[in-house]
Amino acid sequence: VSSARPGKVAVVGAGLIGRAWAIVFARGGHPVALYDASATARAQGLGLIQLALDEMFACGLIADPAAIIAGIAVTEDLDAALRDAVHAQESISEDVEAKRALFERMDASAPPGCVLASSSSFIPSSRFSEHLAGRARCLIAHPVNPPHVIPIVELVPAPWTDAEIVERTRTLFASVGGVPIVVRREIEGFVLNRLQAALLNEAFRLVEDGYVSAEDVDKTIRAGLGRRWALMGPFETIDLNAPGGLGDYARRYGAWMFELARQQAHPRPWSERLIAALDGERRKILPLSEHPRRQAWRDRRLMELTKNLRDEEE
Ligand SMILES: NC(=O)c1ccc[n+]([C@@H]2O[C@H](COP(=O)([O-])OP(=O)(O)OC[C@H]3O[C@@H](n4cnc5c(N)ncnc54)[C@H](O)[C@@H]3O)[C@@H](O)[C@H]2O)c1
Repeated sequence: VSSARPGKVAVVGAGLIGRAWAIVFARGGHPVALYDASATARAQGLGLIQLALDEMFACGLIADPAAIIAGIAVTEDLDAALRDAVHAQESISEDVEAKRALFERMDASAPPGCVLASSSSFIPSSRFSEHLAGRARCLIAHPVNPPHVIPIVELVPAPWTDAEIVERTRTLFASVGGVPIVVRREIEGFVLNRLQAALLNEAFRLVEDGYVSAEDVDKTIRAGLGRRWALMGPFETIDLNAPGGLGDYARRYGAWMFELARQQAHPRPWSERLIAALDGERRKILPLSEHPRRQAWRDRRLMELTKNLRDEEE
């Protein structure tokens, strides 16, 4: 496979994530077949991809949008999409039954050498691949939105996923500009959403108990923790925050962190009352009609940031 031209990729589901994956693989030179069960999603797919490519071009992230879009073919035929594919990236709704049915079809139709990956955010692939003849070629490849801008991909093998499949998938994502990590054993929510959940649950708790407003929580991340997080993770952060490095930090502050963890130990569901209050506040700041504009703004700023960070790394 190594010396050959980039192999064909089937992207199954042309929603937010599927369209972004199509861009990622086509940008990496792979011919992409983009399939969706919905006629509307198929009809809108290329137009929405074109808009994203225009933005990427304007931010200097890509040189030739036309070449990328020329590599993407939308199809209503799943079997045709999978024909000759080396990798299939499922990106349909987050529904275990739907994924189970689709993986059955994909396993029956895809050529034997084709990896079957799922973009699922929370569901370990063993929940929908166990009964498949080709279960050794199934795994999770979870991105964060928008994957054509943010490079992380969490690879999560099921207990029966072939180690060689994980390795091949890691190589594939790295070769198209992704930053793959491997989650060694299955766990719900994998790593990214478990970290996100810890933060969100604490944010809900602090607001519910009246310690702080939602707006000020957002400021704390945006103007505080998030600034560093664009550059480095939590371990590097604490390593740089004590003169003697991580060990020094742990000796100085570890007991405090443990005390806070104790106070955070008893999780609560997000209450309907709190959700309504938070939603009300958000809607005052941003009416739903303004969502698309703000999302476009976010993606644009993320592209500029990505470009900036990439230039620095090069
Ligand atoms: N949106 C995010 O932030 C995000 C981030 C990472 C991962 N994910 C995961 O990616 C997957 C897709 O999420 P999304 O945000 O793109 O959703 P979406 O609703 O935007 O897109 C889903 C698409 O799948 C199509 N679809 C549904 N069932 C199908 C089927 N059986 N066969 C073919 N097409 C089908 C729908 O028509 C739709 O176009 C989910 O598993 C989600 O958890 C989402």
